[in-house]
Formats: sequence, structure tokens, C-alpha cells
Amino acid sequence: MKQHQGKDSRPPLVADWQHLMRTFIRPEDEASRAVLTKYMEQILFGLHDFLASHVGVTRERTLKELAEAYSDASISPAPEKKLDEIISELIEEVAPHAVNVSSPYFVGHMTSAIPFFMVHLRTIVAALNQNVVKLETSKILSVIEKQVLAKIHRMVFQREAGFYARHVQHPETMLGAFTENGTLANFTALWAARNRLFAPGPGFAGIEVEGVHAAYRHKGVRRCVVLASRLGHYSLRKAAGLLGIGNEQLVVVEMDSGWRVDLDKLAETVRDLTRPGSETAVLAIVGIAGTTETGTVDPLEPMAEICAEHGIHFHVDAAWGGPTLLSGAFRGLLSGIEKADSVAIDGHKQFYMPMTSGMVFFRDPTALDAVAYHARYINRPGSVDLGIRSISGSREATSLMLDCALRIMGAEGYALLIDHGIETAKAFAAAIEKRKDFELITAPELNILTYRLCSRRLQQRLESCGQEERRAINERLNRINRDLQRRQREAGKSFVSRTTLSGPATNNEQIVVLRTVIMNPMTTVAVLEEILDEQERIFAAMNAAAAPENAP
Ligand SMILES: Cc1ncc(COP(=O)(O)O)c(C=O)c1O
Repeated sequence: MKQHQGKDSRPPLVADWQHLMRTFIRPEDEASRAVLTKYMEQILFGLHDFLASHVGVTRERTLKELAEAYSDASISPAPEKKLDEIISELIEEVAPHAVNVSSPYFVGHMTSAIPFFMVHLRTIVAALNQNVVKLETSKILSVIEKQVLAKIHRMVFQREAGFYARHVQHPETMLGAFTENGTLANFTALWAARNRLFAPGPGFAGIEVEGVHAAYRHKGVRRCVVLASRLGHYSLRKAAGLLGIGNEQLVVVEMDSGWRVDLDKLAETVRDLTRPGSETAVLAIVGIAGTTETGTVDPLEPMAEICAEHGIHFHVDAAWGGPTLLSGAFRGLLSGIEKADSVAIDGHKQFYMPMTSGMVFFRDPTALDAVAYHARYINRPGSVDLGIRSISGSREATSLMLDCALRIMGAEGYALLIDHGIETAKAFAAAIEKRKDFELITAPELNILTYRLCSRRLQQRLESCGQEERRAINERLNRINRDLQRRQREAGKSFVSRTTLSGPATNNEQIVVLRTVIMNPMTTVAVLEEILDEQERIFAAMNAAAAPENAP
């Protein structure tokens, strides 16, 4: 923006047509090109330096202070700052108060460091500014998207080469769809499944057209349910709500002692729901390949058999665990996934893409026809516009980033990351078990594990005592673990998350646990040992301050 000389030392900025136009036009001379390159460098390396040097999770500045500093609800009439000032402000004032999810000590969530080349790829995607809703605004990007969908579909379903040759660029079939996240990937899977279950028939135009009430009447049912274990992600409840079946109709199936769906209970529930007179339609059974809280994988193979026996849609939520299929050592953990009808996988999780990217895949390449929408100005019948079979309208070409990443890393590169996470998690579990103050609650199957502060003495006591005493001990431990997690987070050096688990393994008691997700290749066992050391120190300080009756 143009600067006018003012009374202050700095001239005020004014909006000016000529300067505005320049922000839309590529730099016309060497001088302005050099300025833009300098800005780009400032962004790429300024942020990278911050992420590399800043070890703690976040610098100290309270949320209250931040909220007060960002409470101005007015848009300034004149331009406030020039681009270089804005970039400096972002690097110096915003980034330090964001969460450094790239830190190797940030092991609490499914958000972590990404390969640096992703930033470059994202910049290119933004610069191209393609809209993959339709070919007219994306052309080759839509073609690349179809190809990358086929690559991941093949990773999951392993259909024969001819199948992919036929469908990879088929104008009328879709092997899957990109979505903004795992939530919408799960939604899309259940949306298509719902519309296929209540498909159009004589005297009925289909549930998408006539709605839930007419659909139930047509099918002679009173309700429609989705089955998943207690560890199912809450996006499944959202989907049930959005789809109009009601989120109460997400039927929770109990788990076995290994935090996987209990197959006997599942079979029994399905028998009960499908018996004559139950007036219930089973929309889908959801298997989880890497639960959010424990990382466990449901027994997909037998779940697929139950679904096949009863003609029920089998959806696998592999938002987290999907890329494990690229690891020669661990892909067997997901065996049976190839029998699913649909599979959700997140790009921004173990494909290490920047926020946000989700995907959903269907074994049947015509499944997404059940959610097709057309408009007069785009997405016309017969066109290959990707927006026809998608919950989104306008959408960026995140698929280009995944396609490039797959070629930069290769399946073997991703396998190194997956193997590192699982092997480090296993070594971490062993380290936890060696320490007398900690109890491993869920051993890692993939790269997620949970544990809690609970001394060996209390662990033994819990095994032998009665129900009432056990409950009292657990309640006290829950308080301590909640407090410990909060204190460690506030100290700002490392971050583990916390959740509350309950299942047969905990005698169905609510247990507060510390949860770690190990996906950052820079997170080593030594780093994790340091995190445990810090927890021991915090605990010792809590103990020293506690009244004797509260001491664990
Ligand atoms: C198993 C599982 N499914 C679905 C989701 C939802 O994904 P998103 O947060 O990308 O919407 C998550 C997120 O953590 C998840 O762990």
C-alpha cells in the first residue's frame, strides 16, 4: 500500500488502486521480484528457525492475556501494515504463542511435525489456486486427484491391475473422494451407505429425496442404527446426527479386554437388531483401525464376515492407522481392511500432510453415485467434475500435495516413519513398565499408548482389594493424574494428553490416563524418558506439597 507523509514518524498507509493492482500481478521487474523472494524466505526460514529452536510446547503468555490483546472487533478503514511488517509480526508475535506441534516433546495428539517440503507444496497449491469442484477450474489437478485416489485405493483394497486400469480415470466412477478431514470422510461413508440402504424403489424416490420419515415408512422400520465400539470417534455421532437418524442410534458395542470390539457381543447385538419384528435397519458396522484414544485395531477380518453374513455395510475408520498399510512389518495389523465397503483415511495424520486433508474410499466404484448432486452451471450429468460426488463444494487441490509426497517419500519412506512410531512406542511401553511409579494401561498396537502414575505398591493393592477400595484408590489416582498432566502442560516443556478410559480391562471403572501419540521421527526413547523424568519430578513436588492423607 502507498505511504503518505503524516505527522507521526511513520507515514500513514492509504488504500490506493495502483498499489492494489500490483498485489494481483506477478512482479514485473527484478527489484519487486527480489522483495517478494525476501518475504518468502522470511516465511520459510523465519518459521523454520522458530520451530527448530523452540523446544517447549508454547511460550508463557496466558490465554487471558492473549484474548485481551486480540479483542478488537473493528476493521481498520485504511491499510494498517505492509506485507513485510505483517510477516515479521506473524513470525515474532504469533508463532511463538502458537503450539509448537513440531517439538519432539509434543507427543499428546495426532498433530505433529511435517516434512518441510510440505510447506513448499502447499505454497504451490495456493499459488495455482485451483478449485477441484469442477474441471473448468482445475483440469489436470482433477486428473491427478483421480490418480492419487486410485493409488491409495489400491494400497487398501489390493484389487487386480485391470480394475485400476479401468477405473483410474473412468469419467463415471469414483474410487473415493477427498474431504476436508476424517470427520467428513466418516460422514461421507455413512451418507453413501444410508442412501444405498434406503435406495429408490417402486413408489419411493430414496431417502436423500424424501427424507428419513418416508424412508422408514417405506422400509417398515422405526429406526436405523450404526454399530461401533465405545472407542469410536465422536465424528460418528456427528454423522448420525447430520444424517437424521439421530446420534442416539449409534449403538455402542462393548470391548474385549484388549480394547477391541468384542466379537461375541457384536454378533449377539446384530442378531438381536436383525431379528424379525425388531423394526430396525442396520446402516453400518464400523471397525476402527487405530482408535483415537488407544490406537488399537478392531478385529477387521471377522467383523467383515459378520457384515457379509447379514448384508450390512462395513465401514473402517482408518483415519489414523490407514498408512500403516505401507509398512511391510506392520501392515498385517490391518488385515481384513480390504473387505470393507468403505474406508476413511486422514492425510493430515500419518501421511504427514499439512492441515487439513481427509479421504474416503469405496470398494464399489459406483458407491458414491448415491450422493451425487448436479447443478446447471457446473457438475452437469455426464461431466467428470469431482464436485458431483462430494460433500464439499469449492475445494483446494490437497490431492496434489499427497501425490507429490508419495513420490518424494515412496512407500518405503512412509514405512520408515510408521515403523519408527510403532517401535518407539513399544520401547516406551517397556520403559514405563520398568519405572516403579507408573502403570502401563494400554500397550501400543500401533504408535499410541496410555499409562498413568500409579505406584507398584498401589498396582498390587488394586489387584487384591475389594470393589469399594478399588474405586476409592482409582478416584484418588484420577485426581493425581489429571493434576500431573495439567502441571506438565503448563510448565511448557513437553506435552502428553489425557483421556478417561473405561472397559473390561478397567472393570468398567473410569480411569484417567496419560496418552502419547508417537509420530514425530525426532521423538526418541531418550526424549520419552525425559518426559517420564519430568513427570516424576512434578509428582514428587505434588507429594511434598500434599497433606499426608492425600499422598499417593
Ligand atoms: C479414528 C479417528 N477417526 C476420525 C477422526 C476425525 O478426524 P478429523 O479430526 O480429521 O476430523 C479422528 C481424529 O482424531 C480419529 O482419530
